[in-house]
Amino acid sequence: MTLLTEMTNSEINLDAATDWDGVIAVFVGADSKLDACARKVNTLTRKAVERCVQGDAFDALPAGGALRLAYPAGVAATAVIVVKLDRKPSQDAARKAGASVAREKGPHAALVMAGNLGRVDDVALGVLLRDYDYVDHKTAEPKARGLVNMMVSKPDALDLNGLRAVAEGVFFTRDLTNAPANDLTTTSFADRLAEMQAIGLKVEVLEEERLETLGMGALLCVGQGSASPSKVVVMQWNGGGDEAPFALVGKGVVFDTGGISIKPAGGMEDMTMDMGGAGVVSGVMKTLALRKAPANVVGLVGIVENMPSDRAVRPGDVVTSMKGDTIEVINTDAEGRLVLADVLWYAQDRFAPVGMINLATLTGAMVIALGHENAGVFSNSDDLSAAFLKSAAAEGEGAWRLPMSSAYDKLIDSRIADMKNTGGRPAGSITAAQFLARFVKDDMPWAHLDIAGVASVKGATSLAPAGATGWGVMALNRFISDNYEA
Ligand code: BES
Ligand code: MN
Ligand code: ZN
Repeated sequence: MTLLTEMTNSEINLDAATDWDGVIAVFVGADSKLDACARKVNTLTRKAVERCVQGDAFDALPAGGALRLAYPAGVAATAVIVVKLDRKPSQDAARKAGASVAREKGPHAALVMAGNLGRVDDVALGVLLRDYDYVDHKTAEPKARGLVNMMVSKPDALDLNGLRAVAEGVFFTRDLTNAPANDLTTTSFADRLAEMQAIGLKVEVLEEERLETLGMGALLCVGQGSASPSKVVVMQWNGGGDEAPFALVGKGVVFDTGGISIKPAGGMEDMTMDMGGAGVVSGVMKTLALRKAPANVVGLVGIVENMPSDRAVRPGDVVTSMKGDTIEVINTDAEGRLVLADVLWYAQDRFAPVGMINLATLTGAMVIALGHENAGVFSNSDDLSAAFLKSAAAEGEGAWRLPMSSAYDKLIDSRIADMKNTGGRPAGSITAAQFLARFVKDDMPWAHLDIAGVASVKGATSLAPAGATGWGVMALNRFISDNYEA
């Protein structure tokens, strides 16, 4: 489990800069004007800050970028980090500035001299989000991460607990998504979710026997080739009144070999992240519980492993979903939709939610269409998708709506069953969405987020190192708070 960086806040005390044991961060806008904090450090360091901001390197920095002045004279600190940020920054620049501080501080304690800077909460959140390192499987002693003190003119206005709730959710999602499949098995995944009962969530683990009774033939066929038992985990957060909940549903394939329609060896190791949708649902539920959100939200995840074996589902097999519809399994690698079909149906059947969003690393075609910048949004509701897109934009998490229609839906009609689980290569992400839509009741506002391209990436992003990003936790947390809280 990756712990958050310890963060404190304090009133302005410029003299603290002299003896600070660690690094010091100051903020200077594109106009190169120094605020009181930067002036103080500039004086102590015999104008090192001034020389820095007058140079070409500072000029070339993007908003939120930083330069590191190592071992400056006049202060005890090992470095002064000069961050380029206007006094009234955009949210994006403020978060990037925080991320720059996290990157540049290394293992040292940081004195972040923000003063009366605008959006210090976003700076602090940027620090927390970027100071993440997945080291669960490294044998070396984890490096110290050093506490961060936010020195601000209004310490009481900085809601550190609120920021921590968000960052904890994002870290939980990243930890789950980064975990290898021999660590995060179907059982250990469910166990880790059950631990969230300690923070006030009601968590139920539905075992295979129960799933059989419920008739979840689509979900169960995916896991039937694996030695690890399939599960559905239901997480309820009842922070609201007696209104029906909003439902979040996630694909939790702890490893996707493709099954009998086995994937090529190259890159197959990436399929440890195929539970990313369930990871996001889990992270959002954690954030909602930690901030005691005044809303009713239920998170449901289908947890399975897709393996080839003598018991595995075969191409051509026909299975019956909980809804009752039959599915011809053309390709056992199109397994995520089979899992989601039953969990979506169960969510509606049991909770009659006011709306429903599912997340899944569903199709490789999504990566081809939108790369790693945007998740695909598919919806039967203009209102719901607009509301989600607004929340995603507000959090700087890329999302883009794609079309659905009956013409695409026809592509998954089957000769021998009610439908087949693939529609061929054209519009592969859309036909996957059409498949899910067949398990959404009429009048149920629903959106499907295909996060195949954004859940985990090969290089660092502005707010995360390489690997799991935690994409969607902040967008969905905001979506709930903006639309379902009094
Ligand atoms: N988990 C994969 C999709 C995926 C691919 C996620 C790359 C992240 C990165 C999914 O289960 C899958 O295998 N989909 C198939 C569907 C096809 C057989 C219709 C695909 O995209 O190739
Ligand atoms: Mn697959
Ligand atoms: Zn998959």
